[in-house]
Amino acid sequence: MDFAGGAPAPHELDYKYNLGMTKQTSINAAGTISLGGQLTVNRIGFGAMRITGEGIWGPPKDRAGALTVLRKAVELGVNFIDTADSYGPNVSEELIAEALAPYPKGVVIATKGGWVRPGPGYWSHDASPAHLQKAVEGSLKRLRLERIDLYQLHIPDPATSFDRSMETLAELRDQGKIRLIGLSNVTREHVERARKITPIVSVQNRYSFADREWEHVLNYCEQNGIAFIPWFPLGAGKVACDALARIAKTHKAKPMQIALAWLLQRSPVMLPIPGTTSVEHLQENMAAGSVKLSEAEMAELGGVSLPGLGVRAS
Ligand SMILES: NC(=O)c1ccc[n+]([C@@H]2O[C@H](COP(=O)([O-])OP(=O)(O)OC[C@H]3O[C@@H](n4cnc5c(N)ncnc54)[C@H](OP(=O)(O)O)[C@@H]3O)[C@@H](O)[C@H]2O)c1
Repeated sequence: MDFAGGAPAPHELDYKYNLGMTKQTSINAAGTISLGGQLTVNRIGFGAMRITGEGIWGPPKDRAGALTVLRKAVELGVNFIDTADSYGPNVSEELIAEALAPYPKGVVIATKGGWVRPGPGYWSHDASPAHLQKAVEGSLKRLRLERIDLYQLHIPDPATSFDRSMETLAELRDQGKIRLIGLSNVTREHVERARKITPIVSVQNRYSFADREWEHVLNYCEQNGIAFIPWFPLGAGKVACDALARIAKTHKAKPMQIALAWLLQRSPVMLPIPGTTSVEHLQENMAAGSVKLSEAEMAELGGVSLPGLGVRAS
């Protein structure tokens, strides 16, 4: 797992599920994206929220399995892993460090703060300066890092001035504890306002082909060279529909590969972070960049709207 010199390893997968093809395929087909001109990562990442216990609370039932999926993801070429201190809480960050620290060269761990867990089933705001300072220290320790490559404000806090939250992250960056700053669950106005205080390299909002409420924020990101990280990229598997099944059959691919291929083709700033606890699903997801959808297929899927995908931030 040593990516010597930062050069991308081939990550070839001789992969029986993929597209019915015999040729080798890999994560490389999805291409790469630059974060703020400072870090380059493969354009399919891994979302590490669901490697925790039920309800994103406590340890996973299958701890060894969670560690295996994390290690396998990096073996397959994933070099962008998304997490948050609220996943578990703390459990996702601890498992990432246990599985991967010291991290192979080029692996970017992106975490988030400002969304706390008072108990199982509960999520609550705290993006006050005092909390964010404490949260960054906690994430550094759990992730066994000296500096966090990408730190995202998980969600704006109605009880704290948004500018103060952003100024605090900028201060932490200036102190060398954070390298790059991102946002999550924000409007276009939030991004514009934050950019007056600090460069913003990524925005993480809910988005999939069937759930495009935040399309205008994606468009803004595209116009401004900001990575857009769609959370719920598979609607947790609920994006399944007739069009997806039919198009998957045409391409001899899996429906979730088509959902990811649509995202990758929708915009060059798209950086999906599908989450899974299964190595088989992980392999499918990593190969999604090999599927090339026609304009008609892109338009058909883009016209699908599935009610019920609108879940809250987590
Ligand atoms: N910023 C925010 O507020 C926020 C909110 C939610 C999530 N996130 C981030 O976004 C990441 C992804 O979101 P998510 O986990 O909610 O949604 P998701 O990636 O759309 O869906 C994950 C679910 O889909 C299933 N799945 C994954 N690959 C599959 C495949 N190839 N075939 C069939 N099923 C598959 C997984 O089940 P299996 O385990 O069985 O594969 C899992 O239950 C999270 O890990 C987290 O990092 C951020």
